[in-house]
Amino acid sequence: MPVSEILPDFFFFERGYLNGNHFAWRGERPVLVDTAYLPHVDATLEILAGIGVDPTRTAQILTTHCHCDHVGGHRRIQALSGCGVALHPLGRHFIETGDDWSTWWRYYDQPAEPFECTHSLEDGEVVDVGPHRFTVLHTPGHSADGLVLYCAAERVLLSADALWQKDVPVMTVRVEGSRTLFDALISLERIEALDVRRVYPGHGPGFDDMPAAVARSRERLRGYLRELGFTTNQVEAVVCQRPARFDQVRARLEGDGVVRCGVPGVHGEVQPAGTSKVSTRPQQCHTPFGPMRGGRNSASGPLVSTRTQRLRIRRSRSCGQRGAYRASQGPRTTVTPADSRVASTPG
Ligand SMILES: [Fe+2]
Repeated sequence: MPVSEILPDFFFFERGYLNGNHFAWRGERPVLVDTAYLPHVDATLEILAGIGVDPTRTAQILTTHCHCDHVGGHRRIQALSGCGVALHPLGRHFIETGDDWSTWWRYYDQPAEPFECTHSLEDGEVVDVGPHRFTVLHTPGHSADGLVLYCAAERVLLSADALWQKDVPVMTVRVEGSRTLFDALISLERIEALDVRRVYPGHGPGFDDMPAAVARSRERLRGYLRELGFTTNQVEAVVCQRPARFDQVRARLEGDGVVRCGVPGVHGEVQPAGTSKVSTRPQQCHTPFGPMRGGRNSASGPLVSTRTQRLRIRRSRSCGQRGAYRASQGPRTTVTPADSRVASTPG
């Protein structure tokens, strides 16, 4: 099994499929990123010990998403060390409510073991893992709670299952919802905007040529959408809008358990006042597969009615999100080996 030290004392473990790759920072109180597959947890512990990481001293496990092949060792390591576990709030919700459907544990009959979620990782947070600073980006698509970790100083991306070198991961529309392919495309746009020299994915070896991998993934996803009957313009109209903010999604989850926003941005948080003709009628955004099939002149109305508006939205994105994304934005989160807590501070 290939093991490589990709940053000082920060190791990348490439495991065989279906097992997920994972990472470890070798410090007095180690920090892990994912823990691979439950049936191989003994091997995982041995692998960690082999590079001088004592699992019983683990301070924190950062979680890219809560699929079985990425969280299989969480419970065992947490039991051994009392470590914290950090993950996206959606994943935290899945774990804390025992949702073994959204985690895929039941859907694919590949269980993991429940663990205690101690910290949430929000989009834009900065996480210090020893001397290495990572920015958290929420990249839904393959999984609703998907995160990637970006080290701007070293131009290194831990891309999890949001970006692989030569393929795209499973897209389970039945579980993730009909917007999942659009989410994956939007996540690729966010990833593409990063300055990256080296990518370490959730499966497969590390690689250098991120633009080529993004292009391959994008083409595959667009191909899936074409097979579902979407036109290029329809896909573009959705992808050039921002995804719904998590707090809005959560509010809907807590409301009646149904996430109604099938089309990112359709609730109008992106478009400047007076420039948008995007409809916000709920029946139109329940799923993109219904109203969008009607096209621009359907009764449900076009998603974005003119080329001018599309350009306005693009300009808004490039100024407000894509071009100006900086690691310093958002609250700063520091993994503190000494007390195994995550402390959030402004800035
Ligand atoms: Fe996954």
